[in-house]
Amino acid sequence: MEDFRIALLGLGNVGTAVAELLASTQDACLARAGRRVVVDRIVVRDLTRPRAIPENLPGKKQMGTDPLEAVHDPEIDAIVELVGGENHPRTWIRESLESGKEVITANKAVLAVHGEELFNLAHEKQRGLYYEASVAAAVPVLQVMQQGIPAGPVDRLFGILNGTCNFILDQLEMHSFEEALKNAQEAGLAEADPTLDITGMDSAHKLILLARILLGHTVPVDELRVEGIENIDPLDISFGWSQDLKLKLVGILERNGRGTCMGVMPCFIPAQHRLANVRNEDNAILLEADPFGSLVLQGKGAGGKPTAGSVVADILRAARGDSSSTPPAGKETVILDPGMRPARHYLRLEVPDRPGVLARVAGALASEEVGIAALEQSENLSEVHDSVPVQILTHPVQTPQLDRALGQLDEDLRNISSPVRIRIEE
Ligand SMILES: NC(=O)c1ccc[n+]([C@@H]2O[C@H](COP(=O)([O-])OP(=O)(O)OC[C@H]3O[C@@H](n4cnc5c(N)ncnc54)[C@H](OP(=O)(O)O)[C@@H]3O)[C@@H](O)[C@H]2O)c1
Repeated sequence: MEDFRIALLGLGNVGTAVAELLASTQDACLARAGRRVVVDRIVVRDLTRPRAIPENLPGKKQMGTDPLEAVHDPEIDAIVELVGGENHPRTWIRESLESGKEVITANKAVLAVHGEELFNLAHEKQRGLYYEASVAAAVPVLQVMQQGIPAGPVDRLFGILNGTCNFILDQLEMHSFEEALKNAQEAGLAEADPTLDITGMDSAHKLILLARILLGHTVPVDELRVEGIENIDPLDISFGWSQDLKLKLVGILERNGRGTCMGVMPCFIPAQHRLANVRNEDNAILLEADPFGSLVLQGKGAGGKPTAGSVVADILRAARGDSSSTPPAGKETVILDPGMRPARHYLRLEVPDRPGVLARVAGALASEEVGIAALEQSENLSEVHDSVPVQILTHPVQTPQLDRALGQLDEDLRNISSPVRIRIEE
């Protein structure tokens, strides 16, 4: 059979690891794909940067800086998009599909935002749009959800979908947020601009891709509650420990009789929960459905090498012509806020160290019928600050109900710092 000719767009963390893996596993790739995979084009932004391209990587390895040149090269069978971003990749993917090429990408942002257009185009052009590496890096969760489990409804998905945030939350056991983020960047797990990760948006993009398989349609990101970890402090982690709770950034999808609850937020989960011990940059996805009970898929959720494994698996599927199945269009479901299900919440407020303050906090909470189950106020050991943290556990309430109560805090209390509130998913 003829060689499968690919163009690598991007030779960063993931692109470099893909080139290394293709070079070091040539025989196995040939056996799995039934044809040789050759890299004829490599596209980067800066040609002057030194590159570690393996000498034994098969193919012409022609370097360039214009992705569209590769996209419109009739000799190329597949475009492997490993650049990132939304708008440019949208054009490259669209034009690749239009010119009859297969597309492999690790880019969740472009698919979460422009997925419907791109998946429909792939379907129309009878081309594969492969994206396993875009969700949970090394974990083949999309394959399992599309082909490994029955097509019927999964009742619940509960997932740690961002390796960078999971790493940072682990680090907060010993470090400040700034140190934890720096450690993640030094370990190659966080980008120079980590906004998409720490605001929960990257997890939301992945949840949208998982939901597309389960629901059969793309949910717009602005319909979701999306909260990040940027205000989490080591104090929150240690309070959790004292209550036998672990803090995780989770994506939730839950069907009920009225619709589908979907969102991303930091949650405390019991220390004995199946995802509580998912450490470092690992991702894990818990699926619950009637036919199989529950199932956990876990593995490395970030990093060049783990991601490259899934990209190469997709390249081999594309080379075999084993196109990723596009789920049939499902009936649009009503998207509900997972915060509406009553749950205990944890609160941390920085309050002035003066008599009567706690009564004012309790009064604001009572105004929305939020009951306090436990309250802890640290002693003020600082000679500089006139404020102390107060940590509160509430009785079960809806998240918006608690937010309304926090809105009742008088200005004096709100001005010191915004309160941190975290749901407890039992
Ligand atoms: N890193 C991970 O752990 C991970 C995990 C899962 C998915 N992903 C996804 O994989 C993709 C790549 O991530 P990465 O971490 O490998 O990114 P990266 O290290 O920043 O690499 C990006 C590459 O794209 C090239 N590039 C940027 N703009 C370009 C342009 N306009 N034209 C041509 N080339 C351009 C860069 O060129 P230069 O080298 O010249 O700068 C670089 O080689 C992203 O979509 C990301 O979300 C990453």
